[in-house]
Amino acid sequence: MVNPAEVDAVILVGGMGTRLRPLTLSAPKPMLPTAGLPFLTHLLSRIADAGIEHVVLSTSYKAGVFEAEFGDGSKLGLQIDYVVEDEPLGTGGGIANVVPRLRHDTAVVFNGDVLSGCDLRALLDSHSEHGADVTLHLVRVGDPRAFGCVPTDSDNRVTAFLEKTQDPPTDQINAGCYVFRRSVIEQIPTGRALSVEREVFPGLLADGHKVCGYVDATYWRDMGTPEDFVRGSADLVRGIAPSPALTHQRGEKLVHDGASVAPGALLIGGTVIGRGAEIAGGARLDGAVIFDGVKVGAGAVIERSIIGFGAHVGPRALIRDGVIGDGADIGARCELLRGARVWPGITIPDGGIRFSTDL
Ligand code: GTP
Repeated sequence: MVNPAEVDAVILVGGMGTRLRPLTLSAPKPMLPTAGLPFLTHLLSRIADAGIEHVVLSTSYKAGVFEAEFGDGSKLGLQIDYVVEDEPLGTGGGIANVVPRLRHDTAVVFNGDVLSGCDLRALLDSHSEHGADVTLHLVRVGDPRAFGCVPTDSDNRVTAFLEKTQDPPTDQINAGCYVFRRSVIEQIPTGRALSVEREVFPGLLADGHKVCGYVDATYWRDMGTPEDFVRGSADLVRGIAPSPALTHQRGEKLVHDGASVAPGALLIGGTVIGRGAEIAGGARLDGAVIFDGVKVGAGAVIERSIIGFGAHVGPRALIRDGVIGDGADIGARCELLRGARVWPGITIPDGGIRFSTDL
């Protein structure tokens, strides 16, 4: 059995989160509010819950925001160190770069944008029982075609890292969480950008290192796209996704302090309403992620969409599968559908964009 107090956690949070623009223009992806908390809080609380005490945040894009929020980590029962890359080093370079801050011989590395229910203690124990150099959390998914897949043999050893294909030989995919022997991290080349998935892992396999998989079928979602962010947030609100950081009663909606929801507004599908937001009567929000300070007008409909800080959505507007940037103003009766993204501060006049006639 591994003592989690003798394991470092390393979280990669340096990416620019381009797929979630424009929300990531003002905040790095792991800091976006998810069920009312910065996304990273869910991961940090899971790490603390597993008994790990020391965390290194590997930062680059908007690095200062993390320390301003989490400080020394004591509020979460953790000790957090910060390492900043002046130039982004990629996922592999970001891991190599934290070596001077590691305290132990084992490190568990997390992508900072994954919502997962993986049993971290079981993952660590599996790593130690197999005497592995690296153990990857591999999750079994219903449709592996959208991901590179990672087959293993009967001894749990990884046999290949395969690119996306229409006919994957296994349903196991890389879940973005890895246990490393420290000496292996020390061998990753430093000073240049490289990818852990595309370069480091295939290289370790080719060099004969013992690379193992820990396979489960737990809750798992990479929050990288608006669609996944919306679903992950709704799953947290409804209690489908686990998070030790959440204490609210699970249900169809989560309304934060200081928000006002008029009688007759309908909130369903794991909708979350941020602090100080105002939702007018007759509005219908289904799977909506409403950040702090948003105003939604009477009769507006918002489905599977994210509305950024302080944005306004006018009366009877319709937003479906959209992302509205901070402070944007969407006029009455506008219709924004199918992946529409509105940049921060943009004003669309009443009836200014529609996907149907106005009659
Ligand atoms: P996209 O630009 O939308 O692809 O998002 P991303 O920049 O976050 O990239 P991706 O989702 O592939 O990254 C996976 C995880 O690694 C995320 O938690 C990122 O924050 C992190 N990451 C990506 N690139 C770097 C980097 O250069 N340095 C560090 N330290 N972390 C990184």
